[in-house]
Amino acid sequence: MKLFDASQIHLQTQTAKQTVEKIISKKAKIGIVGLGYVGLPLALEFAKKDFDTVGIDLSTTKINLLNQGKNYIEDLDDNEIKAVVQNKKLTAFTDFSVVKDLDVIYICVPTPFTPTKDPDLSYIISAGTSIGKFLQKGQVIILKSTTFPGTTEDYLIPELEKSGLKAGTDFFVAFSPERVDPGNKQYNTKNTPIIVGGINEESSCLAALANAQVIDQVYMVSNPKVAELEKLLENIFRSVNIALVNELALLCERMYGINVWEVLDAAGTKPFGFMKFLPGPGVGGHCIPIDPYYLSWLARSYDFETRFITLAANVNESMPYYVVDKAIREIARQGIKLSDARILILGASFKKNVRDLRHSPSEYIIRILKKAGAVHIDYNDPHAPEYEVDNVIMHSVPLSEEQLKQYNMVILVTDHDDYDYEYILKHIKCSLLDTRNGTKNITQYCEKVILLGYVQE
Ligand SMILES: NC(=O)c1ccc[n+]([C@@H]2O[C@H](COP(=O)([O-])OP(=O)(O)OC[C@H]3O[C@@H](n4cnc5c(N)ncnc54)[C@H](O)[C@@H]3O)[C@@H](O)[C@H]2O)c1
Repeated sequence: MKLFDASQIHLQTQTAKQTVEKIISKKAKIGIVGLGYVGLPLALEFAKKDFDTVGIDLSTTKINLLNQGKNYIEDLDDNEIKAVVQNKKLTAFTDFSVVKDLDVIYICVPTPFTPTKDPDLSYIISAGTSIGKFLQKGQVIILKSTTFPGTTEDYLIPELEKSGLKAGTDFFVAFSPERVDPGNKQYNTKNTPIIVGGINEESSCLAALANAQVIDQVYMVSNPKVAELEKLLENIFRSVNIALVNELALLCERMYGINVWEVLDAAGTKPFGFMKFLPGPGVGGHCIPIDPYYLSWLARSYDFETRFITLAANVNESMPYYVVDKAIREIARQGIKLSDARILILGASFKKNVRDLRHSPSEYIIRILKKAGAVHIDYNDPHAPEYEVDNVIMHSVPLSEEQLKQYNMVILVTDHDDYDYEYILKHIKCSLLDTRNGTKNITQYCEKVILLGYVQE
């Protein structure tokens, strides 16, 4: 691996040299295929750096909003989007024919799994097919969607080569995974180092040079497979460590008198050799619940069982069931039938202070509660006024005194900073099951709090 240095580029072919010139002189046209949580922030960065930037997405809703200068990603600055659209640095299309005018094309489409948790590469393949129809000599294609090793070479390139052009000589291909962390105030696109793995030296250099226009530090690895696997490792590392502390939380509940959150705070004082992860009601979002399965699926084809990865996923996926069991026991303790109980879920998004609802633990908790017989379930989320679970659209309820006193059980699933726990605890007439330790600084009304990972002696 080496840190990319633009002054050290030595390219062989004239095709590659021409593309380098265009990027350095900012005459290169940048294309972003897939304008979601990953694609739109990247498009904005290039547009702000004065590159003519073109977004392509199948969603007409997103394209129409964007072309009116309207932002739909919570983390981004509305005014910045408006400005780059108004000065025509960012334009958006549903039609791939614009590809023929581009120089660098990033692919940022979803990589979900199937109902049986196998990788679903259909979005990457579809994007590759569409780009391939308009591919030109000298173009650089950079795949950013998280996926298993081999995707770039075995799935994307064959679609692109249907154009009749040859990868590595006529056009250049690299995998460069995304590290955006929505809601993170410290690390953004610019100051988060990024990895690039090209199919040859020229592809790596061109992709690194393109990235270096908007990112401070770019590291080059030997090939796309290394980059694909390192991204999966990043997310598997999180999954395994979250599973570990989830297991510890469950153990603390059996042992009585040991508060897992205090244990973690204490361990977190060690300045080396320990990274603090937190337990909770499960994992969510488009990365942690999905990406580990991409690798365990691939490993099976090598007659290899990724036991750590599977075990971690099992532990994390069991957490919503555990939370529901705890809530149901508390409702039963009050002598209330589950079908009569009024339950409030606090926080629908998968992590605090964001709007992203994908694979959120609250979705599983609501589903499991309903299966168990609960009928009256409400939710509140200051970031998400509407929430669709199993084709039922729910609306966030206000946290008024009137509203709060109706419930027989409140479950804190996502600890948004906006929540005033003292106010909530004061007005509820029931227990609050706190799965995030959100109430840690509250001294009053503690008798109403049931904390995940702690049972008093
Ligand atoms: N969200 C994150 O924080 C994050 C972080 C790192 C990596 N990733 C990875 O980045 C990829 C994209 O994730 P995301 O969160 O931006 O997804 P997203 O769903 O927010 O956005 C994807 C966009 O791609 C569009 N799209 C789908 N198929 C298309 C096609 N064939 N042509 C053009 N557009 C198409 C969709 O309409 C959507 O707007 C995934 O592989 C994900 O795992 C996401």
